[in-house]
Amino acid sequence: MSEVLRAGVMGWPVSHSLSPALHGHWLQRYGIAGTYEAFPVEPDELPSAIARLRDEGFRGTNLTVPHKESAMALVDTIDDTARRIGAANTLVVQDDGTLAATNTDAYGLIENIRADAPEQLAAKFSGRPLVILGAGGAARAALVGLADIGATEIRIVNRTLARAEALAGIVADQDLVVRAMGWEDRARALADAGLLVNTTTLGMQGQAPLELDLGTLPADAVVNDIVYAPLETGLLAAARQRGNPAVDGLGMLLHQARAGFRAWFGIDPEVDDDLRNAVLAARAQ
Ligand code: ATR
Repeated sequence: MSEVLRAGVMGWPVSHSLSPALHGHWLQRYGIAGTYEAFPVEPDELPSAIARLRDEGFRGTNLTVPHKESAMALVDTIDDTARRIGAANTLVVQDDGTLAATNTDAYGLIENIRADAPEQLAAKFSGRPLVILGAGGAARAALVGLADIGATEIRIVNRTLARAEALAGIVADQDLVVRAMGWEDRARALADAGLLVNTTTLGMQGQAPLELDLGTLPADAVVNDIVYAPLETGLLAAARQRGNPAVDGLGMLLHQARAGFRAWFGIDPEVDDDLRNAVLAARAQ
């Protein structure tokens, strides 16, 4: 009997996770004898849940809120990306039985933008400043991803300026200037920008709208919202209306999943409309 490859996602709560639908779609598409399940794991139970992975035949797991930071103390190795982001979203059981942690959110953000705006990404957004709204965990991943593509200036704009300042300190690169700016300066931050990424929760279903005047944003700047519920946020609609290329947030979720799937199941899976539709259908349930 051939081995069933097991993986999943640990979170608390986790029932809302779209990852089982996403990986399930790929498992079926590629005909892999594998499973991907959602595991509700309370914070206190994370150490034992992670310790059991190998013995229960898991290839690895995704981690979601609230485990992304705490899991880092429970693994054998942490790669450079996860270390810089300060959080892990993917664990892989290695052939020698050790547990490796990585973070695929920065990769997901960049690959999502690459899919919809390949020329602008290849040109590093014409070397212009890149703007990140927000300074939480998603902003950390965005900062690392954008620093790694060779940005020369990144502006972090956040309601709580001290968080933006703290975040600005995590990348040390002499060819990159990272500026922290307050929320009241957000329209000014858009002047000359080549990319705008919203990593705040504003504009998400059930949250306050993102109030942002795009008037100073160059018309060719790419606008990316990592919010994907709704898919067409107010920010993206406003961007499209004035002719800016707009990239929705669902693709980040889809692309960040590729690295885990590849590590656990041995195939680099494709992100396409079938996958998007399968995940959107799961979201609607
Ligand atoms: P995540 O880790 O998912 O990125 P988070 O750490 O809760 O989530 O961050 C949410 C982001 O949305 C923060 O940048 C937050 O700003 P603060 O750091 O000032 O809290 C931002 N945010 C949430 N509500 C906001 C609001 N009403 N106005 C401006 N920014 C807001």
